[in-house]
Order: sequence, then C-alpha cells, then structure tokens
Amino acid sequence: MEYPLTPNPRPASAADLSAIHANPGFGEYLTDHMVVATWKKGEGWVDDAVVPYGPFQMNPAAAVLHYAQEVFEGMKAYRWSDGSIWTFRPEENARRFNKSAARMMLPQIPEADFITAVRRLVEVDAAWVPEPEGEKSLYIRPFMFASESFLGVRAAETVTFCVIASPVAPYFAGPKPVDIWVTDKYSRAGEGGTGEAKCGGNYAASLIAQYEGYEYGCSQVLFIEAVGKDRVEELGGMNLMLITSDGKLYTPQLSGTILDGITRKSVLQVAADLLLEPVEARLTKDFLFDKVLSGEVVEAFSCGTAAVIAPISSFKSVDGEFPLREPVGERTVALRNRLIDIQYGRTPDTHDWMVKIV
Ligand SMILES: Cc1ncc(COP(=O)(O)O)c(C=O)c1O
Repeated sequence: MEYPLTPNPRPASAADLSAIHANPGFGEYLTDHMVVATWKKGEGWVDDAVVPYGPFQMNPAAAVLHYAQEVFEGMKAYRWSDGSIWTFRPEENARRFNKSAARMMLPQIPEADFITAVRRLVEVDAAWVPEPEGEKSLYIRPFMFASESFLGVRAAETVTFCVIASPVAPYFAGPKPVDIWVTDKYSRAGEGGTGEAKCGGNYAASLIAQYEGYEYGCSQVLFIEAVGKDRVEELGGMNLMLITSDGKLYTPQLSGTILDGITRKSVLQVAADLLLEPVEARLTKDFLFDKVLSGEVVEAFSCGTAAVIAPISSFKSVDGEFPLREPVGERTVALRNRLIDIQYGRTPDTHDWMVKIV
C-alpha cells in the first residue's frame, strides 16, 4: 500500500502548533491527517490513503458498535535533538497488531504496509512531532474495526484500518511514583479469553476496577488471575516489574492472559545491560505482598509505551497497604533513563531498536 496523500486544506497554524506543543496533555489534540484503508473479503486491502483528519461516516448497524470487533496499537515517534524523527521497534507493534487481529477474526495487514502507514502519517504531520524537552513525543494509534453493517454475529467482511496521531507529554509526568490498587473483585482476562490481544473490550472491562482504584487514591489497578485468584498479572494499561535487593528484576511471565508489552520486553533486555538479572516467573499475590513487606522487593514499577516507566510507591488491597522501601528507586530511574535515552538518540542504540522516519 502506498497511501497517496490528499492534503488537509486547513492545517493547524504555526501558532496553534506551538500552543499545543507547550501543553499537549495526552491524546487531546489530533494531527492534521489520518491514514485509512478498507479491507473487503475477496478483494483484500483497497482505498489506502492519507486524508485530512475528520469523523467517519458510520452506519448505526456497523458491527463494531454492537460486537466490539476491534483491535489497536500504541506507539510513539520521537524527535531527536538534530531534528530527525524516529520510532521504537515498529515491527513489534506490527506483529502484535496482526496477532490481536487474528484473535478477533479481523484480517491481517502485511507488516510492511502497517509500518508504511505509520511512516506516511508521521512524514506528512512531521510538524506535529514535539521537541524532545519534557519527554514529549507523537503518540500513534493504529486501529482496525468491523465497519460492515449487519446485525448478525459473524466476522465482518468489510473492515476499516486507520492510523491517527496526537502529540503527548508522558502519561505520568516525570518519574512520579503511583499507588496501585490490587483488585481481586474484578478480572481483566481469563484463560482462552482475549487478555493477550490489544482489543477495546479488554479496556472497557477494566474501567470498573480502575474506578474502584480511584476510590482508594490509586491511579492504576493490578489484576489477579481470574480463576485461582492467586497469580498477579498486569495493570490496566501497563506491565509490572519488581526489583529485589539481590539485583533481580521480576516480572509476571507471559501467560496468554496478559499483553506481551514491547516496553516490558525492552526493559528485560536493558536490565541485563545494567547488571540486573531478569526473571520472568509465576508471581503470586502472597509473593508480592510478603516480599514488599520484608523489604526484599525494594523497588517496583509499571511499564508501557504511554508512561514509559512509572515507579510504584505502594500496593493497596483489601489485605492492607504495602509501601515500597524505595518509592522512586535508583535502579528504576536508571532503567527509565536508559530506555528514554535510546528513544531520544542520547545513547547508542546497541539493540538496533530505533527506525528513522524523517
Ligand atoms: C494491558 C496493557 N498491558 C501492557 C501494556 C504495555 O505494552 P507496551 O509496552 O507495548 O506499550 C499496555 C499498553 O499498551 C497495555 O494496554
């Protein structure tokens, strides 16, 4: 797919852009253009284009509005101090997008076409990519949904692919520690379900727990496995990491019910560079609470594209409160800085993760 451009006749002015860049928030302002393409059963991908950003015309019977057949991705473009623009491991997003799509009976998009879509949008809207100060970036949201109109339950035969983008500041400003609510009342995913897919329904299902967490002053929720109520899994929108006093970096193993986070994967690799021993294991709630209480787990953090690495100051649950000895731990900050420095081109990219766009 080549995504030919129809330019926006009324792009944001330089003054608008500089006001947005001064205070972008997260996901509030969308760029001037978007990528669209349509998939039709028997025809494949057609009508690929970059067009002015704007609303979809949607039939009220579109299947996504009824059965939530939808998947998405989240990635970022970073402006380096020399003005060039880069993305981080885009092939991983492409791969995961197709894996999510397969689970939701949506069509595959060739990885190269996925990456070209992202590249085209960032090229066209390059002026929207903020300067690196304050760890600002352009958040990119590729998504795909069942746009066919019908009210029967089956896989859609017309599907829309779209990529939109929004300049953002980090989801949680600076390495500010967050409190985590550990819920065992609500589950996010179960074996054989869609926990491993990045589909909208998982997030809709997590909202009630998130709001329960807010009542206890927590900004994120840690989910426990649905059946045994024993194993800790992940947060509503991030993976979990624990650092022990003897230099181990623990994270829940991939179980099929949690997202295979690209930040998670990268942190595990960067940890080895910083002489931490990465351990992917079955971690129980008792392990978590006991080791935090005993001080063996000294630091904890959540990680994901939006927030990068957010230190955790305490875990709260109906069993009590478990504060970390080091709410903003030295090694958490070192991992965060290492990752961010790679993303902004401030340290050599020894893993070959960065892909230049402009
Ligand atoms: C449920 C969930 N887990 C983990 C992550 C972290 O994944 P990544 O590091 O690829 O952004 C995300 C964010 O996308 C998420 O939504």
